[in-house]
Amino acid sequence: MTEAEKLLEPILKFLSCETPDAWVNEAKKKENLPIILRDHLACELKAGQTAMYLIRKYAVDKDSSKVLLEWFEPYEDFLYRKRGDLASLANKNNLSKAILPKSSNAQGKSPYSQDLIDKMVLLIKEELHHFYQVLEIMVKRDIPFDGITAGRYAKGMLKHVKTFEPDALVDKLIIGAYIEARSCERFAKLAPHLDDDLNKFYVSLLRSEARHYQDYLTLAGQVSGKDISERVAYFAKVEAELILSPDEDFKFHSGTPV
Ligand SMILES: [Fe+2]
Ligand SMILES: [Fe+2]
Repeated sequence: MTEAEKLLEPILKFLSCETPDAWVNEAKKKENLPIILRDHLACELKAGQTAMYLIRKYAVDKDSSKVLLEWFEPYEDFLYRKRGDLASLANKNNLSKAILPKSSNAQGKSPYSQDLIDKMVLLIKEELHHFYQVLEIMVKRDIPFDGITAGRYAKGMLKHVKTFEPDALVDKLIIGAYIEARSCERFAKLAPHLDDDLNKFYVSLLRSEARHYQDYLTLAGQVSGKDISERVAYFAKVEAELILSPDEDFKFHSGTPV
């Protein structure tokens, strides 16, 4: 078994379906590379933001919350306000201060552990690094970033999130696991059809995305404190439906192209 196959084994078990060939055929077309890369770039930032908003909402103290927002500013400036460039984003994915838990219950102890924070901070660092790597590739290939709209995929899962805690957080963490797992599966599917440079890059992403999926799933279990397999199975179905049903809006996480 190759390293990639080993990384993918649990992911293919976790996902209810594989990416349909029709999506791969669309994604490997040369003329679709700009849309894949632009969407990929936006997805890396969204992955980082999602983790950042999760720990801001649930876990960190006031000062840390501010530090987290500032951390994202140059990236958001680039993506939403067309400010900055590759050079201005270099070496920005490091945090200067420790991110600490808030003390919110009567005992002065945070209900969410430092473990959740540490895992998410590492994940954010990696996503911001991926963002930079994708942008580097786009610049090298003269592919401009001229904006992109969000597909239906994440929204299609988030609308099923429960409205009370801690179940809402558990659901968001399970969805995080699905997004990471699907990304990993698609990178692996697409990589062999791309040129050497991109192939290497996409294979290099497998390891971190496989860990991100695992971290989200572990955290979901920890936060819930109960057996979450039923909820995982529920989202497996929702996710597979979004992947297999026809979708006119071709994106990195889109359904079957029509
Ligand atoms: Fe990533
Ligand atoms: Fe990730």
